[in-house]
Amino acid sequence: KITPVILSGGGGTRLWPMSTPECPKQFLKLAGDATMFQMTLARVMDRDFFAAPLFVGNAAHAALIETQAREAGVPDALTILEPCARNTAPAIALAALAVDDAKAPLLVMPSDHLIADVPAFHAAIMAALPLVEDGWLVTFGITPTAPETGYGYIRIGEELTAAVARVERFVEKPDAATAQAMIDAGNHAWNGGIFLFRADIYLGWLASLAPDMLHAAQAAMAGADRTGAIIRPQEAAFAASPADSIDYAVMEKADRVAVAPVSMGWSDVGSWDSLYEISAKDADGNSIQGDTRLLDSAGNLVRSDGLRINLIGAHDLIVVAHGNEVLIMPRGHSQDVKKFSS
Ligand code: GDD
Ligand code: MG
Repeated sequence: KITPVILSGGGGTRLWPMSTPECPKQFLKLAGDATMFQMTLARVMDRDFFAAPLFVGNAAHAALIETQAREAGVPDALTILEPCARNTAPAIALAALAVDDAKAPLLVMPSDHLIADVPAFHAAIMAALPLVEDGWLVTFGITPTAPETGYGYIRIGEELTAAVARVERFVEKPDAATAQAMIDAGNHAWNGGIFLFRADIYLGWLASLAPDMLHAAQAAMAGADRTGAIIRPQEAAFAASPADSIDYAVMEKADRVAVAPVSMGWSDVGSWDSLYEISAKDADGNSIQGDTRLLDSAGNLVRSDGLRINLIGAHDLIVVAHGNEVLIMPRGHSQDVKKFSS
């Protein structure tokens, strides 16, 4: 069975003011009745295919993880609480060290994505499994629609099986010109940020590409405090790890990396604009959550968890109210939000 590893340690700064360090994007109900963390969990509930999930998140979010997992019907999952954030490569190392079966395939998932077509996601996972068992690092490729600079880009190489191709080159977060050149060239995919590989294979790559990181993770787990299902890696040891993402530390450099292209209605909801694009809208193109009155207004995204928002003659705005903060901007500017949030 595949062990789902759900990462929830990120900040989600571009969805400020709703997303905050105390309660970032993945723990919010941005697109429906469940939080994005809970929607991630719901994709791997089928115990015929998936073992119980493993959570890796920031210790500051311990209560959020516990409450939201229990609400979603997964009360006792093994939870690794990082004492500090060292980005995804060390976080995944902790998970790989925590599983009992070293050859277990891990499905590493961010907790802040939407996937509309879950059966297509499952089919892609199953189709990739034979290569994973054979020692490949597999990532899922999304057809690019714009020269986004916030994603990893994959040049798709030779076919390995009907469903999976070799990764010829992996470029994490290119500049705009490089991103455009790759889109123009065709035969490129975005890295979906979801990975499937054996725990021992990942640790093997860390041993050769980032040994300091591996040693820090090993020391942190050797000195970890375990109470029930909660594992707290030893703080000083983990803090000594270099901080880096799996994309830069491993995927750009490793061999035997493969991509499974999949069309599954994927969105990473990276900004208020992308949330507008994917959310349900009324006849006037307004996407509304919260107490709102509209008059002659169209094309707006409104989110409020308290204040009542009143719009008159407003077009194509993003209005977000949370606590004492109100954000108002025309649609199309949401990449600048992080200038206020950090
Ligand atoms: N546990 C833990 N610890 N989780 C973390 C940490 C950490 O220190 N840092 C980030 N995460 C979680 C985030 O919450 C998110 O769910 C996931 O790991 C990915 O981190 P992001 O910070 O959102 O990465 P990104 O969006 O910049 O880039 C990644 O995703 C893109 C697709 O959305 C890369 O994999 C790109 O290549 C990819 O295109
Ligand atoms: Mg992200």
